[in-house]
Amino acid sequence: MTKAVRFEEYGGSEVLKVVEVERPEPGPGEVRVSVVASSVNPGEAKIRSGELHEMFPTTFPSGEGSDFAGRVERLGDGVTGVSLGDEGIGFSDTRSAHATDVVVPVENIVPKPDAVTWEEAATLYVAGTTAVAAVRAVEVEPGDVVVVAGATGGVGAFAVQLAKHAGATVIGTARADDADVLRSWGIVPVEYGDGVAVRIRDAVAALPGGGEAGGVDAFIDTVGAGNVELALELGVAPERIDTIADFDAARTHGVKADGNAAGGGARTLAELAALIVEGALTVPVDTIYPLERVAEAYDHLAERHVVGKVVLRME
Ligand SMILES: NC(=O)c1ccc[n+]([C@@H]2O[C@H](COP(=O)([O-])OP(=O)(O)OC[C@H]3O[C@@H](n4cnc5c(N)ncnc54)[C@H](OP(=O)(O)O)[C@@H]3O)[C@@H](O)[C@H]2O)c1
Repeated sequence: MTKAVRFEEYGGSEVLKVVEVERPEPGPGEVRVSVVASSVNPGEAKIRSGELHEMFPTTFPSGEGSDFAGRVERLGDGVTGVSLGDEGIGFSDTRSAHATDVVVPVENIVPKPDAVTWEEAATLYVAGTTAVAAVRAVEVEPGDVVVVAGATGGVGAFAVQLAKHAGATVIGTARADDADVLRSWGIVPVEYGDGVAVRIRDAVAALPGGGEAGGVDAFIDTVGAGNVELALELGVAPERIDTIADFDAARTHGVKADGNAAGGGARTLAELAALIVEGALTVPVDTIYPLERVAEAYDHLAERHVVGKVVLRME
């Protein structure tokens, strides 16, 4: 037997139970991974609440969890290229990673470098590859000024660093308490809320040479809450705006909505891990919860004021 998160009905975090289930067996081309860490994501909470029923209808009992890091512990028929005990970073397409064991196609895992911690590795699929997709979507070029809304959140923390790594000057919107964190990553902090457009324009004008260039070149919205409209008000071209959170605004204004599905899967996981090894990317881990406290992890995430990622540890 093994432990896994299950829920039997849509609802709040109280419907989440950690239960004993049969240990899953890998089929042909699959591997079973003993999960060391996984991370929690707002999208999972939306699926569990029923908010996304039209898009992702759930059958009960349902598991959850997409991203994980762990050790390969069993190989299905025909699997090559990995060995028992290999440490990997991966993703589940069947939302079953919040468990002590997960079975996935071997293509869904890449090697975990020693320099990448279990916690970091467990955050790379949903938040990391989504940020990669968003940065790609707005075509960040060296010298650009890029605004990221929600700059310290799970996706935002990746997006600001990736845009900076691509050569942009990055302005991140966050609450005032998070300004020092953003400065420590080399990001210009701007407080969100009333008057944010003026504060962003002032921040651009204060950049070296900013007064002459005069504008924001690209905008990544990880929040919703009027940020697409803010980007348009700042004069950003629709094709250089990407939202991962406001699909109505994307339709209305013809801006991009590239997210996890455009993120590139396993190949991108390997690229993100390599950036961590190089020192070009750090993953802030907000809080670590044991699997048994998965409901508390989601309650904490639901406050929507994390810095980086909330992680589950299975061992
Ligand atoms: N489309 C996709 O493929 C995809 C993939 C992943 C996530 N998502 C969605 O993207 C959103 C963000 O996910 P996440 O994992 O980054 O969430 P998260 O970790 O909960 O981060 C939320 C962040 O939003 C910030 N925030 C809250 N209100 C804000 C406002 N009015 N203006 C600017 N920032 C604000 C918070 O910053 P402060 O603490 O500073 O307030 C916090 O850092 C969620 O809606 C999620 O469902 C979509």
